[in-house]
Amino acid sequence: MAEGRSFDVVVIGGGPGGYIAAIRAAQLGFATACIDDWTRAGDKPALGGTCTNVGCIPSKALLQSSENYAHADHAFAAHGIAIEGLSIDVAKMLARKDKVVAQNNDGIAYLFKKNRIAFFHGRGAFAGRDADAWRVDVAGPGAATIVGRHVIVATGSAPRALPGVAFDNVRILDNAGALAIAEVPKRLGVVGAGVIGLEMGSVWRRLGAEVTMLEALPAFLGAADEAVAKEALKSFTKQGLAIRLGVRITAVRVGKDDVAVDYTDAAGAAQSATFDRLIVSIGRVPFTTGLGADKVGLALDARGFVEVDADCRTNLANVWAIGDVVRGPMLAHKAEEEGVAVAERIAGQHGHVDFNTVPWVIYTSPEIAWVGKTEQQLKSEGVAYRAGSFPFSANGRARALGDTTGFVKFLADAGTDRILGVHMIGPFVSELIAEGVVAMEFGASSEDIARICHAHPSLSEVTREAALAVDQRTLNL
Ligand code: FAD
Ligand code: NAI
Repeated sequence: MAEGRSFDVVVIGGGPGGYIAAIRAAQLGFATACIDDWTRAGDKPALGGTCTNVGCIPSKALLQSSENYAHADHAFAAHGIAIEGLSIDVAKMLARKDKVVAQNNDGIAYLFKKNRIAFFHGRGAFAGRDADAWRVDVAGPGAATIVGRHVIVATGSAPRALPGVAFDNVRILDNAGALAIAEVPKRLGVVGAGVIGLEMGSVWRRLGAEVTMLEALPAFLGAADEAVAKEALKSFTKQGLAIRLGVRITAVRVGKDDVAVDYTDAAGAAQSATFDRLIVSIGRVPFTTGLGADKVGLALDARGFVEVDADCRTNLANVWAIGDVVRGPMLAHKAEEEGVAVAERIAGQHGHVDFNTVPWVIYTSPEIAWVGKTEQQLKSEGVAYRAGSFPFSANGRARALGDTTGFVKFLADAGTDRILGVHMIGPFVSELIAEGVVAMEFGASSEDIARICHAHPSLSEVTREAALAVDQRTLNL
């Protein structure tokens, strides 16, 4: 075991929060170490955390494969392209996904070398404090005791299970299981119609599964703008996702070949359904197992999140925490922002994270994206606003693409015209939302966007037209 290696900054966790924090700390001239325990085949490290291994990246790989299949099945014919004997080789699709993941794992390992970050493969645990530094034990292939003047906790999150229903990743699947189903299930159940449920449900629906989604809340996608949620529900239902709202699960019985779910529906009537597999995607919980938080008195809140202030400082001197293990949205880019900001604060700079401009994207078809306030939030806060929307159906590029679902909506302050929220549903809105984020960061008005030249023909013209719509002067509608 290597003993006594000292660092300015030790990062525990190599997901998007941790690895980005390590890179920024190294850029700022700190001697930096990162500890991560994720392991792939051959006992090799797999840097990148949940996001790279069983989250953002593999889900987007499968969404792309399944969308290609769906296009070949339904959309190509209109272009005069005929395909006979269309089939999907699930093993090959999963192997491609694994390759994409491995490329990302290797890319982060390369970035660590480039930035001279010492990497320790294993589980990091607080061991105590010596003078002005923290001792951290690493258990695993890279076993060592290392010392850090500052420690950044970036240990992420884990899937939340239904009470009494353990994940086995055979019948009851968490996110990792949902990304690795070896053949298209005939009947797929999904508990929780949130972000993971919709993305993973879409993948397997496109490949032919009958998908039933059981959602506890009476409203669909409550965090999204109501108009967007309504349009999304219409589209997903048309695609064959059977979305049941206001459901209460009463029993889950795992059989040898299937899983039966008893529930009450929105009207309170008892229902039962049997599935080949059941994805449980009902949110995630902070992960601090094995971190040694007790040993050093690192404060956790009642829900198990590491307690931090607005600057990601914990209750312990020079111990910081970022990403999914602390309050705020569980998003990779939020974790990254906090990682950068903390490294800069350690360097005495003024790192900042603006929670008002963290974008949300759901990579379904149509895609959904938003930044800032929803119309229902503005109403409940009593803010006077003006709204402007423009549909993709009136856009030449969208027609040429053959994808005219959805719209862009701007919400602007009624007095100052400052943009308060941008909401999108439609083609490539995961990319278009960046304009809304930039606009809000710069404190732009809807008129600013309306006066900016946007390329023709492009989907971004829908953004401009929606900004024009705030002043009721669209040009193409
Ligand atoms: P994590 O990525 O969870 O990384 C934590 C790392 O620390 C892990 O490698 C873990 O093994 C390691 N670790 C934990 N404890 C220790 C320890 N004691 N010692 C050493 N190592 C330890 N977000 C988006 O923004 N966009 C998306 O498209 C998106 N898609 C997602 C799809 C799915 C299916 C899921 C599950 C999540 C998705 N997310 C997405 C959320 C995103 O993955 C998380 O918000 C993000 O990974 C959080 O980053 P993090 O660094 O805080 O934690
Ligand atoms: P989620 O919070 O998005 O959705 C969980 C859903 O489950 C909610 O609609 C909730 O009402 C419902 N639910 C909770 N308990 C239930 C129960 N007992 N029965 C039925 N329904 C129940 O969480 P999800 O989908 O698990 O994803 C976790 C997090 O991962 C997301 O919140 C997001 O932060 C992140 N993520 C982000 C993605 C992206 O940015 N594109 C993609 C996937 C995940």
